[in-house]
Amino acid sequence: MDNNSRLHDFLNTIINTDTVLGLKKIPDESVDLIFADPPYNLQLKEELWRPNQTLVSAVTDHWDKFSNFQDYDDFSMKWLSECRRVMKKNAVIWVIGTYHNIFRIGKIMQDLGFWIINDVVWIKTNPMPNFRGTRFTNAHETLIMAVKDQNSGYTFHYKSMKIFNDDLQMRSDWNMPICTGSERIRFNGAKAHSTQKPEELLKRVIISTSNPGDIVLDPFMGSGTTGSVSKLLGRNYIGIEAEKNYVSLAEKRIAQVKPLEMNLLNYPAEEKPPKVPFGELVSSGYIREGETIYSENKKFRAKILSNATLVSEGINGSIHSVSAFLMGKPNFNGWHFWFVERDGEMVCINDIRKKYIFDLK
Ligand SMILES: C[S@@+](CC[C@H](N)C(=O)[O-])C[C@H]1O[C@@H](n2cnc3c(N)ncnc32)[C@H](O)[C@@H]1O
Repeated sequence: MDNNSRLHDFLNTIINTDTVLGLKKIPDESVDLIFADPPYNLQLKEELWRPNQTLVSAVTDHWDKFSNFQDYDDFSMKWLSECRRVMKKNAVIWVIGTYHNIFRIGKIMQDLGFWIINDVVWIKTNPMPNFRGTRFTNAHETLIMAVKDQNSGYTFHYKSMKIFNDDLQMRSDWNMPICTGSERIRFNGAKAHSTQKPEELLKRVIISTSNPGDIVLDPFMGSGTTGSVSKLLGRNYIGIEAEKNYVSLAEKRIAQVKPLEMNLLNYPAEEKPPKVPFGELVSSGYIREGETIYSENKKFRAKILSNATLVSEGINGSIHSVSAFLMGKPNFNGWHFWFVERDGEMVCINDIRKKYIFDLK
């Protein structure tokens, strides 16, 4: 069986096994994005009671128990190595954790060669109080955003995130509540999963660092938050989860999700205009050979030769090199420097290029 058919078998499914074994089934360099929410290793020793004598629902699950730090580090090293193997060259990995584990995870990631791009802090607007009053209320989790190595290019929808944030650069501190209300899955009144993450968190992760049709892998699928949001946003998912109960919970949850229409998933703001060289504007007649071209205030002028180069003050070169020479700079962007006259008005050649691209469509 070749790698593609192996991968295809797992698309949009949850593999019910230990994560290291599950990851080993996935071919090298095959996934576009990983979101991992591993055990925290909280090391909770005793039950926690509120002042009103009700029991706090903390993460006391057996899957969160490790005998010591070394045991946790060995496990983290194994699953993170496998994640790195299955990531495509331009894939991004996000790992979320708390002070209990995120520093260990960060060190291991750097030791394995991952290159950290950001650490995003999810500030919980409705954190659980510190009932004992022995330390600050722990009101955030940290997400490490990393790539395979220092030279990896990677998907990052900077513009979309900026527009999402009212045209201000999206910052690395994200304020949002923990999962409550109708989003929180319950079974007989109790939380069905102790650490269900908010869908809004996954939306930001998936929109910013993947494209529709991509493969999103979650090696600790839990209640299926990553699978649900991936499906909603037109991505494929692969989940791995050791607990059978969680697998069926997640499968039921994902089955109810209706993907958004494709035209809501592509972002025109991210589209890069096709590259059009100046020569193409001249050969297509939008700008003419022999025409005079000016700086905006007409301080400088140049003649356009038949090979679409400019000549000015004895210098012959491209729109960029001649403008750089005239400005006394090593480099200059000629697209914003040069203007031509049209109907008595000065028109920037970049606007002529935009019109040409528009007319091409
Ligand atoms: C922190 S929770 C993930 C919660 C998930 N992000 C969500 O929103 O529901 C970690 C999950 O990893 C699973 N898990 C822990 N150790 C595992 C292992 N070695 N292999 C596979 N799954 C494991 C647990 O059963 C648990 O559901």
